[in-house]
Amino acid sequence: MTDFLDIHTTSAADLRAMIDSARAMKTARKGRPKGTADDDLPLAGHMVALIFEKPSTRTRVSFDVGVRQMGGQTMVLSGKEMQLGHGETIADTARVLSRYVDLIMIRTFEEQTLLEMAEHATVPVINGLTNRTHPCQIMADVMTYEEHRGAIKGKKVVWCGDGNNVAASFLHAAGQFGFDFTFTGPQTLDPEAEWIGFARENGVRVTVERDPAKAVLDADLVVTDTWVSMHDPESAKERRHNQLRGYQVNEALMAHAKPDALFMHCLPAHRNDEVTSAVMDGPHSVVFDEAENRLHAQKAIMRWCLGV
Ligand code: CP
Repeated sequence: MTDFLDIHTTSAADLRAMIDSARAMKTARKGRPKGTADDDLPLAGHMVALIFEKPSTRTRVSFDVGVRQMGGQTMVLSGKEMQLGHGETIADTARVLSRYVDLIMIRTFEEQTLLEMAEHATVPVINGLTNRTHPCQIMADVMTYEEHRGAIKGKKVVWCGDGNNVAASFLHAAGQFGFDFTFTGPQTLDPEAEWIGFARENGVRVTVERDPAKAVLDADLVVTDTWVSMHDPESAKERRHNQLRGYQVNEALMAHAKPDALFMHCLPAHRNDEVTSAVMDGPHSVVFDEAENRLHAQKAIMRWCLGV
């Protein structure tokens, strides 16, 4: 039994096996109603706790449906309503939950909360997003790219805008799956140096280019995210919008990418801020396949964690 805490702390071979498993599971249930169970029911008899300290649509629903399809049961818990939100330690919460459930997925603010949960739980813990990383999302993104265009190894991925937690997990994935990564955005919003360092140490060509048109030149994949993340203060909104306006992904910017380039956004999107509706709904966009693949990728992650 293993935790899935981040992409850079999981072996490249295991990550590849999870992507392959996710694609096989998706193919095996193609065309079936979403509420029907998978044939092999790998999570039969398993109880999974899904803890949310932040809002969620995709993560909540895709984990819940994924567990049910694999024959397990879920309980969705709000951090605020648990004693965790009223002073009980993370360590004690982890020890107690481990007596009731077989797997814990947590979406939280501070990375330290995730790490403490994993340290003290005696069941596997999955990172459903922290302020620093979002590994489940990027597993779905790699799966989505490869479904549409084949191997991501050696491709040029361009991140436009805020070098946030999702960008961080893309840098980790660049190191593990072997693709080039270009960041374009204002210097104050560069991805963390530690994550750029991880990618470079793993042989990734990481480029930082302030001019978005130059950055996107010949891109295979263009990615963006909201300009204000869930953990950013509302007071940052106006400044962020002023800083990032020049990094909007629109049709003019996509014209610099390869003709068959894909566009991704982890969603929720703020249409006509970081991306125009023309791009979101246009021929390059695979954003809803990305959202669907959260389900399949996370099913593979849960099976890997539980060894089933
Ligand atoms: N992309 C993503 O994690 O979506 P939710 O915040 O809706 O879970």
